[in-house]
Amino acid sequence: MDRKILKILFCPLCKQKLKLRKKFLICLNCNKKYTIIDGIPIFCNDKKEYFMYTSEEEKVQFYNMLLDSYGFELLHKGNGEGYFRSICEVIIKNVPHSVEHIIDVGCGTGRILYEISSFYPSSNLIGFDISFRALKKINKLLKQGKDINLNLKVMGCFKNYKLKGKKVKNLHFIQGSVYNLPFDENTFDIVISCNLVDVLEHPIKALQNLIKVLRKQGFFLITTPMNWRFSYIWKIFPNRDSLINFFIENSIHPIVWFDNLIFRETVNFVRNSYLEWNIFLFLGQKK
Ligand SMILES: C[S@@+](CC[C@H](N)C(=O)[O-])C[C@H]1O[C@@H](n2cnc3c(N)ncnc32)[C@H](O)[C@@H]1O
Ligand SMILES: [Zn+2]
Repeated sequence: MDRKILKILFCPLCKQKLKLRKKFLICLNCNKKYTIIDGIPIFCNDKKEYFMYTSEEEKVQFYNMLLDSYGFELLHKGNGEGYFRSICEVIIKNVPHSVEHIIDVGCGTGRILYEISSFYPSSNLIGFDISFRALKKINKLLKQGKDINLNLKVMGCFKNYKLKGKKVKNLHFIQGSVYNLPFDENTFDIVISCNLVDVLEHPIKALQNLIKVLRKQGFFLITTPMNWRFSYIWKIFPNRDSLINFFIENSIHPIVWFDNLIFRETVNFVRNSYLEWNIFLFLGQKK
């Protein structure tokens, strides 16, 4: 595990420093141990990793689909091109390229970090997600530099596609939950979180946690469909202005925001059918 990453990791339970042992991290205060697998520290049990899927099979299908659509995007065959490029452009244009720490919470396949990595060669880029399964695959591809085969059978495609492994030096993956972040306050220069808060039961708690770990003058980029999975949230955030006001009340000054950013989530590659999501993008700076 990279020492630069160890320096910013804290026990998510008691927020104290962690010490590196051979295959785990240990909290010097509460003695809790956190395993490291393939260089990925594991901070929480990911059994509930994606609550909307009830069976193991459904979960596997979902993560194959995420990865495979990512793979397809890399081959420039996907439908999410405009969505991902718009997010990356907003970051690259507005956030100085010399910043120290960048995190993407709920990074999924890590595509955004991968795309911006060459613009931020001296930054530590951290992909953070509750799903160890997703991180393990993407770690293999982008950190260990091993090729992976795309399994597109679930999407009705029997052709073989291979993704070429790449070793992105400054990319790191950490498993954990947005509800218990293993970082100190004021750590990151950019906090990115795309299409995460809409699926959470407690988006306000999650947003507050994300803002806490952001440094003063740091940048906060989120994208979300204004389409909340939990019904009580619709009353709290009925429209984009209510969300912008929430950011302002929590010291995030708006810089760029717009809606109608279309994300086409591929459902079937062969028939090229997709779901179309209307996404709200917001970039702000912490005052
Ligand atoms: C809809 S996907 C979005 C993935 C990626 N950000 C993108 O835009 O392509 C939501 C991601 O959030 C992750 N996630 C769900 N609950 C989480 C939690 N409590 N903490 C951290 N990540 C979580 C899921 O595992 C999944 O990878
Ligand atoms: Zn502890």
